[in-house]
This record gives sequence, C-alpha cells and structure tokens, in this order.
Amino acid sequence: MLIQGVIERYREYLPVTEKTRIISLNEGSTPLIPAYNLSAAIHPRIELWLKYEGLNPTGSFKDRGMTMAITKAVEEEYQAVMCASTGNTSASAAAFSARAGLTCVVLIPEGKIALGKLSQAMIHGAKVIQIRGNFDDALRLVRTITENHRVALVNSINPYRIEGQKTGAFEIVDDFDGHAPDFHVLPVGNAGNITAYWKGYKEYLAAGKSRNLPRMLGFQAAGAAPIVLGHPVEKPKTFATAIRIGNPASWKTAEAARDESGGVIGMVTDHQIREAYKMLASLEGVFAEPASAAGIAGLIKLSDNGYFEDMEPVRGDKLQVVAILTGHGLKDPDSAIKAAAEPMTVEADEGAVLDAMGLEVAEPATV
Ligand code: F0G
Repeated sequence: MLIQGVIERYREYLPVTEKTRIISLNEGSTPLIPAYNLSAAIHPRIELWLKYEGLNPTGSFKDRGMTMAITKAVEEEYQAVMCASTGNTSASAAAFSARAGLTCVVLIPEGKIALGKLSQAMIHGAKVIQIRGNFDDALRLVRTITENHRVALVNSINPYRIEGQKTGAFEIVDDFDGHAPDFHVLPVGNAGNITAYWKGYKEYLAAGKSRNLPRMLGFQAAGAAPIVLGHPVEKPKTFATAIRIGNPASWKTAEAARDESGGVIGMVTDHQIREAYKMLASLEGVFAEPASAAGIAGLIKLSDNGYFEDMEPVRGDKLQVVAILTGHGLKDPDSAIKAAAEPMTVEADEGAVLDAMGLEVAEPATV
C-alpha cells in the first residue's frame, strides 16, 4: 500500500470534505521504536517506546498540523500564511507553502534558531524575518498582523494545526492494537502538542478505538518553565531553543491535559536535557534534537524521584511509556558537535591511524 499523509489516513476524524484539495508531503506514520537499552537504564519496570517524529518530511512533528493548516488556508483562499517560530514550525510552514504555491512569512528570534531549521525556511523560499526579540514577541506580532490583514496564521493557535497533530495519538493506539500507553511523555514549549495529543487520545476513546487513556507527562526546560512556575517567564533561557518560550499560547489546555489525565508538567535543567540527548544517541542509535530529549530527561527525573514505584500497569507487568521525539537531531548539528567528543586528527599513515585506534602495528609474519 502506498504511504499516505495523515489527512488521508484519518480523514473521518478531520475537518475535510471530498472536495478538499489536500496539501501533503506524506507526513505521519512515523515509527514507534522499542527502547530496550534506555528502558533498562531508567527503571526495571518501564517499557519505553520512542515515537520518532524526526522522520517526518521536514524533520519534525509540525508536519502533521501543517498539512491541515495549509490545506485549509488553500480551501479558504488565502494567498499568504504567517507564523512565529523557534524554527521547526517555520521549516514546515515554508515547505508546505512552497508545495501549495502560497507566500510564507516567518518571524524568528534572531540568533536563536538551529542552523538546519533556518536553512529549511530559506531554501523553501519563505520570507524570513528575524526580530530582535524572543518567540513570545514574535507570536504577539504575528497575531496582530494576521488579525488586521488577510494572511492566515499557522501557529498552533490555529485550530487546524491541533486537528492535524492529534493524529499522532491515533497512530500510537493503532500501533498498540487499540490501547494507549500508561504514560505519554513529551516536551512542552508553546503547549500545542500536549493539547493535540490529549485531544487525540480522548477522541479515539470516545470512538471506541482505544480502551484507555494515558497519563500525560510534559516537560519544560528549567530556564523556560512558565507552566511549572505558574507565571510567564520574560527572558526564557535554554540551549534547547525549540522550547525557549516564556508565555505558551496553549497554557490552559496544557494544564487541562495534565489535570484530566492525572499527569505531571515538570521541568528539567539544561544539564539533564544534554545527558538525555546523549543517552538517546549512544544507547539507542536515535538522534533527536535537544528539545526532544527534555521528555526523556523528565522521565529519568520522575523515575529517580520514585514516581513510578506505586504505579500499576494497565496490562502486563511493565509500565508502558511512549516518548515523543519531536524533532530530528540533524536540525541542530551545532548542539551535537558541542555535546560529543572531538574527532581525532592524525597523519594519513597506517601507524598513526592504528595508534589512534589503540591497536598495535602488526609484526611482519615469520615463516
Ligand atoms: N519539540 C520541538 C522539536 C519543537 O520544535 C517544539 C516547538 C516543541 C518540542 C514544543 O511543542 O510548542 O507544541 O509545546 N516548536 C515550535 C516552533 C514552538 O516554532 O517550531 P509545543
């Protein structure tokens, strides 16, 4: 069967009709990878699965929502779309707009978006405007401009974005043959994704496609943790630039996801994020960007604090956890190079290479 995008795959749950012209890059249907080594390293009772959203066409989960938002922008006869972004939204908006023939304008915080993301927005032909301010400033500007001009806003406050993104929850339940995991772990920035996943899980339960709901476990970076602190953060700081957000637009619905599911929104330090980022790559062979590792860092923190000790699995004897790895590691090569050991440089000579490998030069064979 040909791979389809998320609108075709889940059309009965999405606001499209037979007449809708679907703008898709065959996003979604991302793999759910069992993480045996990380599970063992975190807790003997945990069975961790990684939903690798970095394998979407533009390298992040944003493509699920963007196929919907751009499809509807075309249907509603917009000529131009606009978003504020820490990078991934702009990359996705630029790509889908190019495909649809729309003008795309992106507002990004100057100097604070990862190289891969910037290169994507540029090569797809978006009008890239850097502002001397942060994501929250950019989003404020985008809201005002799109209210007063005929330009579609494609940030996750656009309800079509949430509709598209909820398909991630459907895929997880479908992969597990009709049940949700015990826990759903993810990073939280502008809080659209936690909102979307919770909506998706609830809709699938109501449709009789899922037997249960997960507890939602969301994590912010400690320097950008407004929901945890209970107030906006004026100058958010973290090396995980994707979630460097001080005043999330979907704050209330993120709290609702946490409270209705009996979950947690917590925070993790940059050090904890960096350690989880390296563990993912070195223990599982899965390269995700730093923000994605915030979820894993949070899972480790909860486990270390004894959170899972009194928890009972819905089935079997393990606590099933799905962690969303929201973006591909190649988005942010600078962070990887900084976090890893430096490569060695030697002469182009066998002895020097063997020496660097820690091997002896072989003695000539004696007859
Ligand atoms: N992980 C990555 C890789 C992201 O790019 C984002 C958000 C998040 C997590 C947080 O998701 O905002 O739905 O809570 N990136 C947005 C952007 C803000 O502009 O690309 P959220």
